[in-house]
Amino acid sequence: MHAWLCTNPTGVEALAWTELPTPTPKAGEVLVEIKAASLNFPDLLIVQNKYQIKPPLPFVPGAEYAGVVQAVGEGVTHLQVGQNVACLSGTGGFGTHTLAPAALCMPLPAGFGHVDAAAFIMTYATSHHALIDRGQLKAGETVLVLGAAGGVGTAAIQIAKAVGAKVIAAASTDEKCALCTSIGADATINYTREDLREALKRLTDGKGPDVVYDPVGGDFAEPAFRAIAWRGRYLVIGFAAGPIPALPLNLPLLKGASIVGVFWGEFSKREPKANAAMMMELAQWYGQGKIKPVIDRTMPMAELPAAYAHMGSRSVQGKLVLVN
Ligand SMILES: NC(=O)c1ccc[n+]([C@@H]2O[C@H](COP(=O)([O-])OP(=O)(O)OC[C@H]3O[C@@H](n4cnc5c(N)ncnc54)[C@H](OP(=O)(O)O)[C@@H]3O)[C@@H](O)[C@H]2O)c1
Repeated sequence: MHAWLCTNPTGVEALAWTELPTPTPKAGEVLVEIKAASLNFPDLLIVQNKYQIKPPLPFVPGAEYAGVVQAVGEGVTHLQVGQNVACLSGTGGFGTHTLAPAALCMPLPAGFGHVDAAAFIMTYATSHHALIDRGQLKAGETVLVLGAAGGVGTAAIQIAKAVGAKVIAAASTDEKCALCTSIGADATINYTREDLREALKRLTDGKGPDVVYDPVGGDFAEPAFRAIAWRGRYLVIGFAAGPIPALPLNLPLLKGASIVGVFWGEFSKREPKANAAMMMELAQWYGQGKIKPVIDRTMPMAELPAAYAHMGSRSVQGKLVLVN
């Protein structure tokens, strides 16, 4: 087998495409032949030693992937050799094979392709947990999605539409706004050239969005919160822009509004039954055509450094997927 090995977490340049012995699964593990692996934001941070999880060295990055089970370890009863699976195990995806914890492997129903499956769990689980569980989004309400053409943003648009909400998608270019419209957004705001707060007033007849989905942070958090509706819910997803915003606490008081933290990874560990039920619903929605990952492009696994560079350029729409 081959994999991108990180022996020194100083950045993408330090990764090396390395031949390694193909491992044998231990109890509770499966060997997966990787067909596709997607890039997520933490994949960039983890190779720079900037992510909260710091795997022991050396490690193979690649949190999320899909492929075919090649061998099963002792005690694994729900997966068989030859089965198609998707897995989010944190590391191991950027290679030809990996050992995955069987408990984290999601068996793929017929018709669920490897590329879509590799780009599914992280973004859709985060956005479903955020909007429906933490945000209590209801049919007929309005949601503002910031960074709406990105990985979690595109998933949030589709999930909000699936529950009958009105979606205002905000992004930095007209091209990104057009993508958001093509996947169901009812209105868009290009926040590079439009005033976010004014545009939100105009699009909601002065009422403001009921829910704000914010994976960006930075300078847009405060204007978005100032525009929120009475009893609004502001979902804190992430800080792709860098700075972590600080909001004056009189703002939630004045709107009877809530600032709601979202941490899907921790939710999946602490509430595994609720997470499994959610994943089941998402798989059904995929089968019904209600949701489908937006794939910016697929690239050969050997081109991982170019994929990282593309991701860092802020021009990716949806997800980048590496294929073997
Ligand atoms: N809380 C959770 O459970 C959870 C789970 C998954 C991910 N996250 C977090 O959610 C955030 C987004 O993840 P993602 O996978 O959707 O990332 P992504 O695909 O790269 O999208 C992030 C979006 O943020 C915007 N952005 C603004 N300033 C940026 C900058 N300086 N660099 C890069 N992007 C910038 C971009 O949209 P515009 O160009 O349109 O502004 C971009 O499309 C990350 O911070 C991630 O860690 C949180």
